[in-house]
Amino acid sequence: MAIISSKQSQKPEPDKNGVAQKPKQERSRPSEAGESLLKSAANPEEMGKQEESLRPQKLADYIGQKDLKDVLEIAIKAAKARKETLDHLLLYGPPGLGKTTMALILASEMGVGCKITTAPALERPRDIAGLLVNLQPGDVLFIDEIHRLPRVTEEILYPAMEDFRLDITIGKGQSARTRSIPLQRFTLVGATTRVGALTSPLRDRFGIIQRLRFYELEELTPIVKRTAEILSTPITDDGAIEIARRARGTPRIANRLLRRVRDYVEVKRKGSAITGAIASEALELFNVDPCGLDWTDRRLLTVMIENFSGKPVGLDTLAAATGEDAQTIEEVYEPYLLQIGYLQRTPRGRIPTPAAWKHLGYQPPDSQLALLH
Ligand code: ADE
Repeated sequence: MAIISSKQSQKPEPDKNGVAQKPKQERSRPSEAGESLLKSAANPEEMGKQEESLRPQKLADYIGQKDLKDVLEIAIKAAKARKETLDHLLLYGPPGLGKTTMALILASEMGVGCKITTAPALERPRDIAGLLVNLQPGDVLFIDEIHRLPRVTEEILYPAMEDFRLDITIGKGQSARTRSIPLQRFTLVGATTRVGALTSPLRDRFGIIQRLRFYELEELTPIVKRTAEILSTPITDDGAIEIARRARGTPRIANRLLRRVRDYVEVKRKGSAITGAIASEALELFNVDPCGLDWTDRRLLTVMIENFSGKPVGLDTLAAATGEDAQTIEEVYEPYLLQIGYLQRTPRGRIPTPAAWKHLGYQPPDSQLALLH
């Protein structure tokens, strides 16, 4: 299976020729050990390669997301029996849950190639046109962050998805003409953290729309063990559970934490397997607490409690008060805080729940309980 990737591990900024560029350096903040474990690696290229080697290749090896796997298994069998391509598929959910992995598995199960790109890299019509005309029959085209597609690109995708046709306009003004080029049949797999931000004409063109949910501890633990085996790192059951517990229901984070704990063991406890005690010692050092909250999660909640007394606060205000990017708060941090019941969205803004107050060592005032009703 050919994998041709034009994906960048962070949101790429196209240069004037539309070539995806390395992202600008993030603004620096007071550094705290472990605060970046949720975000990308220091060396995204290297991390990309490591992540590739850990991905399951077959649906049978993919742990968790049972409902999604059931739906896709049927779709794959039916498409194969009819010798057709798979229907277009939209995957949505928080980052790190396995959307790219699932696209690669689909291609592998169907015995076709997979081209991977990200919406911001498709700025000009010719970026998407180039990808489409080079597709082989049945190929999977994976577009990450599909909610960020420029309007012109999106409009090219409509006839491509529906009729496997590329409509291009030649010339300008009154002499402009449209030509249609037939395309190979393909499967578009779109991935997004913000399904609500897709336009309805685009969303309606996907035959299968599926949500990926956070993983349970019982699902993340075998993922940690599987990765440890691939990395030839001895780990006890308790060690795997401890890492899984702090991984925010997210395989990408679980694998990242495992690598950090592996470093810790190699340097500080040569020859030892990763036990529960060692994993918790290492992750404390990296500032990942027993609930999986990192420095930024705790900062967000602390600012809500200390600066706003736990009263409703708007996203932009929170972003300004913490120096975090609003979109990152909304897409990366909030989903897990909402999931574990530490944050609530009310019509007037976000509030930390009494459980969050207690977790951070504060006594929630009675007025806080009233806000929840
Ligand atoms: N590695 C990362 N995600 C995985 C998953 N869902 N199943 C198995 N291994 C994984």
